[in-house]
Amino acid sequence: MSKIYAGDRLEEGCKELAVMLLGAKHAVVLTGAGMDTESNIPDFRGKNGLWRNYDPRVVADITTFRQNYDLFHEFYRDRFSTMKQVEPHPGHYILADLEQRGLIKAIATQNISGLHAKAGNKKVYELHGNTREIYCNSCGKPATEQELLAKQPCRHCKQYALRPNIVFFGEPLPPVVWDSAIAEIKRSDLLLVIGTSLEVSPVNQLPYLAEGKQVLINNEDRSAGYSFDLVLLGSAGDILQRTVKYLT
Ligand code: APR
Repeated sequence: MSKIYAGDRLEEGCKELAVMLLGAKHAVVLTGAGMDTESNIPDFRGKNGLWRNYDPRVVADITTFRQNYDLFHEFYRDRFSTMKQVEPHPGHYILADLEQRGLIKAIATQNISGLHAKAGNKKVYELHGNTREIYCNSCGKPATEQELLAKQPCRHCKQYALRPNIVFFGEPLPPVVWDSAIAEIKRSDLLLVIGTSLEVSPVNQLPYLAEGKQVLINNEDRSAGYSFDLVLLGSAGDILQRTVKYLT
C-alpha cells in the first residue's frame, strides 16, 4: 500500500524520501517530461501538455516523418527552438549533486532535452534519444542542426530525410541504452520515478523490474497499477529542494 503525501504533509514525505536515499546502496532515477516543465519545456499529457494541441501519432510518428516531411519539420522546428533556450532548473542540479555524492547511481530519462547531462549528471540513459545528434534517415550519414532547421536535403544522398536522433512512435528504443537502463533498475534497491505519466510503453514497464523500494514524485497521482512505497504529489523541483535539506 503506497504512503501518499501532498499539501501540508509533503514535507513529512520529503523527509521520508531523504531517509530512503541515505539508506540506499544503488538508487536509480527514471524521469519524464514533468522533470523538464520547470525549465519551460511543455510536457505531453499534463494539463498544458503538447498532446492537447497535436496528435502524437501524427507529428511524432515515423510514418509521418516518411510520408509528410513538411509536417514533421514544422512541428520539430518549434520544439528545437524551445529546447535551444532552456537551462536546467534547481531540481536538475540537485540530481547531479546526488550523483556526485553517490546517493544516486544513474538516471534513465524519456526526455530528449539533454538537461540532466547539462546539469552535470554523468550516467544518463536517454531512452528516447536526444536532439544533439542529427542524421539522414535515408543514408544514415551525419548532418548538422543548421541543415535540419533549414530543411536542406542530405548533402550525401540528396534526400529530404534529415532528423534528430530521437525515437519516434513506431520505432524501437536504442537497444544498448535500453538494456543498460534495465540492468540498472533491476540492480536498484531504490527507484525514484519523477515527472512521468507512465503512459508510454515500454518505459512504463520499467518500474515492475525494480525489486527494491519505489518512490513516485509527480504533480498528479499516476501510481495506479504500480507498487510505489511512497508517492509525493507536487512539483519535482520543490520536492527535490525540500528533500535535499534532510540529506546532510
Ligand atoms: N513536477 C512534477 N510532475 C509534473 C511537473 C512538475 N513540475 N510537470 C508535469 N508533471 C507531470 C504531469 O502531470 C504528468 O503526469 O509529469 C507527467 C508528464 O507526463 P507526460 O507528459 O506523459 O510525459 P512523459 O511521461 O515523459 O511521456 C512519455 O511520451 O509522447 C511521448 O516521447 C514522448 O517521452 C515522451 C513519452
